[in-house]
Amino acid sequence: MRGFFITFEGTEGSGKSTQIGILARRLTRRGYRVIATREPGGTRFGEQIRKVLLSIQNHGLDSRAELFLYLASRAQHLEEVILPALKQGRIVLCDRFSDATLAYQGFGRKLDMKTVRAAVKYAEKGIFPDRTLLLDLEVGVGLDRVRSRGRRNRLDREQRAFHERVRAGYRRLARMNPGRIKIVTAGRNAEAVAEEIRSIIDRDLKIRSTASP
Ligand code: TMP
Repeated sequence: MRGFFITFEGTEGSGKSTQIGILARRLTRRGYRVIATREPGGTRFGEQIRKVLLSIQNHGLDSRAELFLYLASRAQHLEEVILPALKQGRIVLCDRFSDATLAYQGFGRKLDMKTVRAAVKYAEKGIFPDRTLLLDLEVGVGLDRVRSRGRRNRLDREQRAFHERVRAGYRRLARMNPGRIKIVTAGRNAEAVAEEIRSIIDRDLKIRSTASP
C-alpha cells in the first residue's frame, strides 16, 4: 500500500511542530510506521539551505533567489526522503510543503503567481499531500508566541502586513482545495487542537484502509 502524506501549514507560531510531535507519537503507538520531517530541511543539503534562508544575516535575499532555495530544498527532500518513505508505505508528516511556497512567495512576496505555481509544480514532481492541516491563527498572537521564545529568524522579522498576506493566502488556498486542506483553529490549547487533528486523520486512515485492495 502506498503511504499517506500529511502536511502541516500555518503562519509563524501556529504550533505545527507541537502538533506534529503529538500526532507522530499517537500514530506510532497505534503501530503505523511514521516519519516526521520538515521544509525547508529534511535532508543534510536541505538543512544547510534552511540555515541560509532563516539567517537574519541574509536580510537582503532577493525574492526569486529565495523561491529557488525553497524549491531546491524540496526537490532534494522529495527524492531522498518523501518518495522513498511513501513507497515503503509509511505515513509522512511534513512541516510545510508546496502550499507554503504559494502562500509566502506568491501571496506574501507578491511574485507572479502563475510563475510560482509553475515552479512549484516542477519541484513537487506530481506529488501532492493526501491531507493538509492548516493551523490558522491570528498573526499578532503567533508573532507574540515566536517573540516570547526569543528566537526570531529572518521571516519572523518581516512586516506585519507580509504575515497578514500569507495568512489570507493560506485561507484562500484552503477555499480553493476544500477536499484536501482542512482549517484547524490554532488559538486554543494544544490538546484541543490535537484532538481535532486526531479525528480528521483517524477518518482519513479509515477511508484509506477500506479503499485499498
Ligand atoms: P518554519 O518551518 O520553522 O516555520 O520556518 C520556515 C520559514 O520559511 C517560515 O517563515 C515559512 C517560510 N517558507 C517559505 O517562505 N516558503 C516555503 O516554501 C517554505 C517551505 C517555508
